[in-house]
Amino acid sequence: MKPVRRGVIPAAGWGTRFLPVTKAIPKEMLPVVDRPMVQYAVEEAAQAGIQHLTIVTSRVKESLAAHFDRAPELERFLEAHRETPALKGVRRLATLADLAYVTQQEQLGLGHAVLTARNSVGNEPFAVLLPDDIVASDTPAIGQLLQVYHQYGGSVVAVEEIPPEASRSYGVVDVEPVAEGLYRVKGLVEKPKPEEAPSRLGVVGRYVFTPGIFEALAEVRPGALGEIQLTDGMHLLAQREPMYAWVLQGKRYDVGTPLGLLKASVELALQREDLAPALRQWLKGLAL
Ligand code: UTP
Repeated sequence: MKPVRRGVIPAAGWGTRFLPVTKAIPKEMLPVVDRPMVQYAVEEAAQAGIQHLTIVTSRVKESLAAHFDRAPELERFLEAHRETPALKGVRRLATLADLAYVTQQEQLGLGHAVLTARNSVGNEPFAVLLPDDIVASDTPAIGQLLQVYHQYGGSVVAVEEIPPEASRSYGVVDVEPVAEGLYRVKGLVEKPKPEEAPSRLGVVGRYVFTPGIFEALAEVRPGALGEIQLTDGMHLLAQREPMYAWVLQGKRYDVGTPLGLLKASVELALQREDLAPALRQWLKGLAL
């Protein structure tokens, strides 16, 4: 079985739920505490040993690439002002991973974004991390999927238990159990009505794919808005190759909406020694 050395981070969506801020700034550059959401995904991948990352960007990509590039003038300024922790943080960014960028010329959906990374990934298994899902866990979320991949082979998708009425917002898997927290995927349905959902397991933004996903996505017929759904490509792939669903261990934050981003920011800041005491005190005051 080939090792997974590459990852794809789709970051080219319109981010309409965050308009107007996403008019000129990619959603993935919005901060959660003091890091843009995309940095959480890059760090998670690097922690799991995935060093080569392709970020799929739109035309407003400059800030994304600039975030992970060296910044000599800023570094000189921080050095002169003895801002050592800030300087370390800034320098570290350029060492996190080997980053490549590809442009998705038209926003034709998540499946299309993954397909855009095809040449960059090549004929290898690879991970996909959606930056608008942040997972706090002991083992990095994508590392959990890699463990399944190494043990069972085939593609692996992260899922979580969802309440029935939430099925309209998720891709839902049709599965049979394999082991504790692990299922074999027979098929997937995008945003089904609760009564038509094949299970209570909703897909969240972590995946490991064999290169077969590219052929599958290339065959998917675009929907009414011209979008190529990743769920449709995965459904096709699951008919051809083994695919597994793994129930993520950890806490997932959906930072794809303003409310979700606020909740994640508060909870993650409460886990930081430098911020928690003052934030907790302020929150207590609010609750009065
Ligand atoms: P979302 O479904 O959250 O869409 O994308 P979005 O455009 O980012 O946000 P809304 O729904 O308009 O508010 C999930 C992930 O897929 C990427 C996004 O950047 C995000 O990381 N994506 C989506 C693309 O890269 N290209 C697309 O065409 C669509």
